[in-house]
Amino acid sequence: MEKITLHDKSFRICIPNEQIEESIRKVAEQINTDYKDVECPLFLAVLNGSFMFAASLLKHINFECEISFVRLSSYCGTSSTGEVKQILGFNKSLEGRSVIVVEDIVDSGETMVEMNKTLLSANVKDAKICTLLFKPDAYKKNLRIDYVAMSIPNDFIVGFGLDYDELGRQYKDIYVLDE
Ligand code: IMP
Ligand code: MG
Repeated sequence: MEKITLHDKSFRICIPNEQIEESIRKVAEQINTDYKDVECPLFLAVLNGSFMFAASLLKHINFECEISFVRLSSYCGTSSTGEVKQILGFNKSLEGRSVIVVEDIVDSGETMVEMNKTLLSANVKDAKICTLLFKPDAYKKNLRIDYVAMSIPNDFIVGFGLDYDELGRQYKDIYVLDE
């Protein structure tokens, strides 16, 4: 489909599925190389947006690993490091684990900074971030984004897991707001 309508807005196709899958295959190759000697890494895919990316990415991963789908709690607990959110959906200890966060898109970076803080306070051995999409012009943080499948301009997009007010997540291509 060349165009879709979600709620009150129309979107036009901007990244076809073949291009998305190819960029995911490349990022998976890097991860396969970097983690080949690491003991059972844990992929933590952030819901809802990353469900489709996680499914595609993990099909290419060739080392022993675990995957869990998590959410960051919206309320905050307090610790010496300041506000630390809870990770919901992973019931084992994160202590000593090598974690790869799987995210749909990094925009301002707020969400990944929170995630990183939370992982460090859970005493992980090592935490890296893998995102399908990165908006360099919107990014405001210093945290390193280790794996980026695609960098995009600062436009609003939907599809391949990403939503506009909860609609549009199921499309296999990525669409941009048609203005
Ligand atoms: P950040 O915390 O500002 O980096 O924003 C990350 C979250 O904002 C993502 O996990 C998405 O849920 C949402 N988001 C950012 N940009 C877009 C977009 O272009 N389309 C849909 N959701 C977006
Ligand atoms: Mg998200």
